[in-house]
Amino acid sequence: NEIKIFSPATVANVSCGFDVLGFCLDTVGDEMVIRKTDKKGVFVTKAEGFNLPLETELNVAGVSALAMYNALKPDCGFEIEIYKNIKPGSGIGSSAASAVGSVFGMNQLLGNPCNKTQLTAFAIKGEALASKCEHADNLAPALFGGFTLVKSISPLEILQIPTPNNLYATIIHPQIEIKTVEARAILPKQVPLEDAITQWSNFGSLIHGLHTNDYQLIKRALHDVIIEPHRSQLIPYFKEVKQTALQHGALGCGISGSGPSVFSLTEGLEQAKNVEAAIKKVYSKTNIEFDVFVS
Ligand code: HSE
Repeated sequence: NEIKIFSPATVANVSCGFDVLGFCLDTVGDEMVIRKTDKKGVFVTKAEGFNLPLETELNVAGVSALAMYNALKPDCGFEIEIYKNIKPGSGIGSSAASAVGSVFGMNQLLGNPCNKTQLTAFAIKGEALASKCEHADNLAPALFGGFTLVKSISPLEILQIPTPNNLYATIIHPQIEIKTVEARAILPKQVPLEDAITQWSNFGSLIHGLHTNDYQLIKRALHDVIIEPHRSQLIPYFKEVKQTALQHGALGCGISGSGPSVFSLTEGLEQAKNVEAAIKKVYSKTNIEFDVFVS
């Protein structure tokens, strides 16, 4: 009647795949306990780690759970406990982990009536509470694992993209908060055709590289000419971190989701650790606190 789950952090956009591409991190995530109750309804009974509202309608995990609850109308209720490790506003899918965790847990307790795409559709409602827009590029990798491509939101279609075995991510999280809503507000509404061509050429190449384990192609494809030039201004020392990561063997480096976290991808664990050590030094010279980890 109770399930304890790990709901992973995720990296959205992956440089050239704004709002559609994402991947899952296996070392960092939230823990949640979902419990079936006789009392009907959805109740968030605990939220530890960060200051989160317990009212179901104001809580991301609560809102996605309610969307599922109202659609399935089960003959029971649910309690949700959230033990948050992923800081809200860190850019590694904090709200998505909450939104996905509750519906995944409920689905298990109900005997898996829904597939992962259906769960994503419920979780979108929770994610929308946090970022004020419906996007699934963090939700899908949290639910499906690995890399996912959100082919479309309506109707919801998610493609699983293979993950090369030796691909590692290094994430650095400067302890400042960037709200997704605000990081979206500064983006241009129109994009020059020339930039669009560069971006979709990189995006297609990245997907091809992931399918064929072609690390050099992945490297040539990990560029973002549309979003990064605007959002990088919100992240202190972004340029230095990126330059350092690339100098120390990263295939690419970019903003994780809407930031402030910055991800690098590498071929091999050793390279990832090199990048970790090098970018740590960049922030150590500043007065900004940070976390860094490899996944
Ligand atoms: N694709 C979204 C954005 C992800 O970049 O705004 C937010 O985590």
